[in-house]
Amino acid sequence: MSTTPLLQKKATELGEEGFLRVVDVTKKFGEVTVVDKLSLSIRRNEFFALLGSSGCGKSTLLRIMAGLETPTSGRIILDGQDITELPAHHRPVNMMFQSYALFPHMNVTNNVAYGLKREGVASKEIAARVSDALELVQMGNYARHMPSQLSGGQQQRVALARSLIKQPKLLLLDEPMSALDKKIRQKTQFELGSILYKVGVTCVMVTHDQEEAMTMADRLAVMSEGCIMQLGTPENVYEAPTSRFSAEFIGSTNVFSGELAEDGSSVVLSTDLENPLELSYAMSNARKGHAVTVSIRPERVRLSIPDSEHAPAIQADTRNAAIGTVEQIGYMGSYTLYYVRLPSGRLIIANVPREVMVGFEKSPDYGDRVALHWSVRSLVALS
Ligand SMILES: Nc1ncnc2c1ncn2[C@@H]1O[C@H](COP(=O)(O)OP(=O)(O)OP(=O)(O)O)[C@@H](O)[C@H]1O
Ligand SMILES: [Mg+2]
Repeated sequence: MSTTPLLQKKATELGEEGFLRVVDVTKKFGEVTVVDKLSLSIRRNEFFALLGSSGCGKSTLLRIMAGLETPTSGRIILDGQDITELPAHHRPVNMMFQSYALFPHMNVTNNVAYGLKREGVASKEIAARVSDALELVQMGNYARHMPSQLSGGQQQRVALARSLIKQPKLLLLDEPMSALDKKIRQKTQFELGSILYKVGVTCVMVTHDQEEAMTMADRLAVMSEGCIMQLGTPENVYEAPTSRFSAEFIGSTNVFSGELAEDGSSVVLSTDLENPLELSYAMSNARKGHAVTVSIRPERVRLSIPDSEHAPAIQADTRNAAIGTVEQIGYMGSYTLYYVRLPSGRLIIANVPREVMVGFEKSPDYGDRVALHWSVRSLVALS
């Protein structure tokens, strides 16, 4: 999984903290609480992603920011101004929806110009700003095209030009790429990301595509049932998930639960694994007897063929190791996923990079016995 941002450095640097503040926001529909005392602080020019499974309240939170929904309680502060009571059309906010919804009977230019025309901006200024906006999204050559003559990705860029032309302080994107197929989607993610970085607009994007959130966002929040489970940079949330929920939501992982025991100078965890798990002292601030859950990412699990030249010898007391049988193989091109069944019945996923596969004399096949092992540092404690 890639965790590198699209561009290493923003053309516009991140601005001050608390540019957008969601303060203790609750939203109830009848008896049902959809957003639950949620607080959030976003920096100027930050690209922030809200991630979570269907129905967890992402769109509702975004609609509250846009003014399309009134919170039951709590405040929304934008650039120092409390906008909680401000109607949507008076907010310096633009929201781009799931379906990009260009006006089908208007050409690209008129679609982009629409908002400015309604505001009564002089036509000469409109022409100049539309031309700039279309250049920005690299659609200058399509000014006279009708939406039906554009690909999904191109329509999305026009919709973005239309959103940016009014220079909103805050841009809200609700599943902006969900209508695109995977290939165009990745290309559009890249394009949209670089345009937004260039413009330096503060942006909150809702998605349930974790790869999209990870490649595009400066920071992301994992939501569940109206609450934020974890918030951080993509790398931070991926490498140091604080809960089983976020570990499993961002990427896949292997999770083990057990009880801590001290064994001489090391801390071990007895789980359903045949072999003991050894934790580093730094992460095991819990005491002996405490229940602990840990996660190991599949790419941290090394796989080898038992008794082969480079395989470590695995005995009953060898720590952070297991022997099992290959049950499923997922060939992914640059890596291969191995699903290995242990004698206890538990399944462990190992992600084996291509260069390691090439190093095998014969790559492990269905039903083969394989050895798994991982370093102490690969284990992350979950709360
Ligand atoms: N106007 C409404 N009236 C009643 N319930 C609503 C209303 N809008 C949303 N809900 C409910 O609130 C919950 C959260 O909806 P929301 O649209 O925020 O989810 P989401 O996280 O955006 O999900 P998805 O990923 O499917 O778009 C859902 O259970 C939904 O049925
Ligand atoms: Mg939604």
